[in-house]
Amino acid sequence: MRRWARLASDSTKRHFSTSATRGSSFNYSTRSGSGGSITATLFPGDGIGPEIAASVKQIFKAAGVPIEWEEHYVGTTLDPKTGSFVTYDSMESVRKYGIGLKGPMATPIGKGHKSLNLTLRKELGLYANVRPCLSIPGYKTRYDNVDLVTIRENTEGEYSGLEHQVVKGVVESLKIITRQASMRVAEYAFHYAKTNGRKRVSAIHKANIMKKTDGLFLQCCREVAEQNPEIVYEEVIIDNCCMMLVKNPALFDVLVMPNLYGDIISDLCAGLIGGLGLTPSGNIGDNGLALMEAVHGTAPDIAGKNKANPTALLLSAVMMLRHLNMNEQAEKIQSAVLKTIEEGKYLTGDLGGNAGTTEYTNAVCEKL
Ligand SMILES: NC(=O)c1ccc[n+]([C@@H]2O[C@H](COP(=O)([O-])OP(=O)(O)OC[C@H]3O[C@@H](n4cnc5c(N)ncnc54)[C@H](O)[C@@H]3O)[C@@H](O)[C@H]2O)c1
Repeated sequence: MRRWARLASDSTKRHFSTSATRGSSFNYSTRSGSGGSITATLFPGDGIGPEIAASVKQIFKAAGVPIEWEEHYVGTTLDPKTGSFVTYDSMESVRKYGIGLKGPMATPIGKGHKSLNLTLRKELGLYANVRPCLSIPGYKTRYDNVDLVTIRENTEGEYSGLEHQVVKGVVESLKIITRQASMRVAEYAFHYAKTNGRKRVSAIHKANIMKKTDGLFLQCCREVAEQNPEIVYEEVIIDNCCMMLVKNPALFDVLVMPNLYGDIISDLCAGLIGGLGLTPSGNIGDNGLALMEAVHGTAPDIAGKNKANPTALLLSAVMMLRHLNMNEQAEKIQSAVLKTIEEGKYLTGDLGGNAGTTEYTNAVCEKL
């Protein structure tokens, strides 16, 4: 079986020097903490975030992982430098250490501030979201052989935030596709495929309708495909892609796509393996910067009730360890998580069990 590990490992070390983080202070030497440990930024986040972050910290400690966490909480006042509740100092922490783990963040409803997740993506130049979807042994779903990776362009498309009213009753939303961002994510997808033993890259699009925007995205993918003839390249229209994924996910290997399609397809794929509570992800930026995150939200309905499943954040932390080449510790934790789920005695409510977050966490620790 593939490892969540390779998801973000070598590939994330690629230097694409075209985004906002060019010239940042990141380099490998800044990672060291005291006593040979590595420092990483931790955003516990909101809602269930602090509970699942505590679970990760407990398991890392029990596994003897030499990581020191520099914790940053989301504030309640706007930072003028970012226009968001995520502060400039928090951004600097990720830039400095080049590696971080993020819990879910709630975007408060109201005007005058940006989405916390969008702020992080834009400020840190996190141009690709990598989400591996692998069947979890012992957790029964419709398919037991899902093994694919979605790579989503993270910075533009329909998420550019450009909406306005043309006249009363008519609104417009601008979808921005640039050659620079499309080339960057296409290059990353092929690089990822090559360095992770993957054979095929599928570009997902709707260029038959959006001829200019998706057309440009496809053109970039084709150019990069030509430079990588050892990888099979294909183009699949988004609606057909959804049907194919639901009927037979084994048809796909690596999928690369613009922002909105990535948002939708990556959740569809998470559903194939048991849901968002089991799905890790990594956001890749320039200069090797990586911010791993659980893809689910803050789950306000169960926050503070010891009911949250920490698996997604834990597997995201495993991706982080692989990225740092701490493969032994990553393997140890991954194996303990999979054994705990397969055993089925201490599953949280979302997986059909009735264990609390703490019982599940203790069960993983016992298997380390
Ligand atoms: N990446 C992120 O930070 C992120 C992603 C999605 C949503 N959000 C934010 O989260 C808030 C709530 O969003 P939502 O309710 O649409 O989605 P959600 O993912 O928080 O919750 C959806 C359902 O899944 C359950 N769930 C989610 N994660 C779980 C876990 N780890 N263990 C057990 N059950 C879990 C919840 O209890 C809820 O029933 C919103 O403010 C939204 O903006 C943040």
